[in-house]
Amino acid sequence: MAKIRKAVVPVAGLGTRMLPGAKVVPKELLNVVDRPILSYIVEEGRAAGIEHFVFVTGRNKSAIEDYFDHQVELEEQLRAKKKDSLLAELLKDLPEAGSMSFVRQMQPKGLGHAVWCARDIIGNEPFAVMLPDMIMDADVPALKQAVSAHEATNGSNIIVVEEMAQSQLHQYGVVALSKQDGRCNPMTGMVEKPQPGTAPSNLIVSGRYILNPEIFDLLSDQAAGAGGEIQLTDAMARLMASQSFHALQYEGVTYDCGDKIGLLRANVALALKHPQLAATAREAVTSLL
Ligand code: UTP
Repeated sequence: MAKIRKAVVPVAGLGTRMLPGAKVVPKELLNVVDRPILSYIVEEGRAAGIEHFVFVTGRNKSAIEDYFDHQVELEEQLRAKKKDSLLAELLKDLPEAGSMSFVRQMQPKGLGHAVWCARDIIGNEPFAVMLPDMIMDADVPALKQAVSAHEATNGSNIIVVEEMAQSQLHQYGVVALSKQDGRCNPMTGMVEKPQPGTAPSNLIVSGRYILNPEIFDLLSDQAAGAGGEIQLTDAMARLMASQSFHALQYEGVTYDCGDKIGLLRANVALALKHPQLAATAREAVTSLL
């Protein structure tokens, strides 16, 4: 079975929930505790065996490309000042030369369209999609759990899901299952932002996918769906007619960092777990409460 080597990371959205700052600062570069959100995403991807990241970018996102390159002057200064651990921190996220690509979406027409923009770089092999809004805190990295499920199901498309309260389901993509037995179950369908009371399950699509390359054919001729956007959910639902899909309820906790309160939760929760900062973070949070 083909190894999952490449991940698409779409970062071309408008980030309206994070305006006004997102007008000039890509929300994916906001710090959670002590490093940018994208640092967590790339770390998770590498731990799952990803060798090449394809960022789908847009205007005002060029800082992302710079983040993953050397900043020679700064590095020289840190070296001269013997700030070795800071320098190591800085270099840790840098990719091997040639192992990141950046393609422009040009217009934010929706997540499906963003993934389609990566088609030439992905080529004809199964690949991962990682939504950078979501930090998934897990002992076994969430994408690694997804790759294992892809292998265990003989190459099925995998959608990572998690439980959500009934009252919130209408804000998410929700999956329909043919049976629910354990954490990895065959899917029969999915629906984007179901009307309240109509959701087919309480499991929402949570930001990591393993997809077979046939998805690109379906995305190429796809009309806009919910919200006037070209939806990845619609293309996946169409691919389900000819390929198997499994929903994997991963073990871990998701933080939606594309949302103001979600970002706050991520900062508090991960600071309270941080090897060096946990004690002072606890003091700070306790004093506020
Ligand atoms: P979201 O809808 O959650 O993010 O898309 P957004 O559009 O940036 O943020 P809001 O909702 O306006 O606040 C999920 C992911 O897909 C990317 C986004 O960057 C985000 O990482 N995306 C979305 C694109 O790359 N292109 C698009 O056209 C839409």
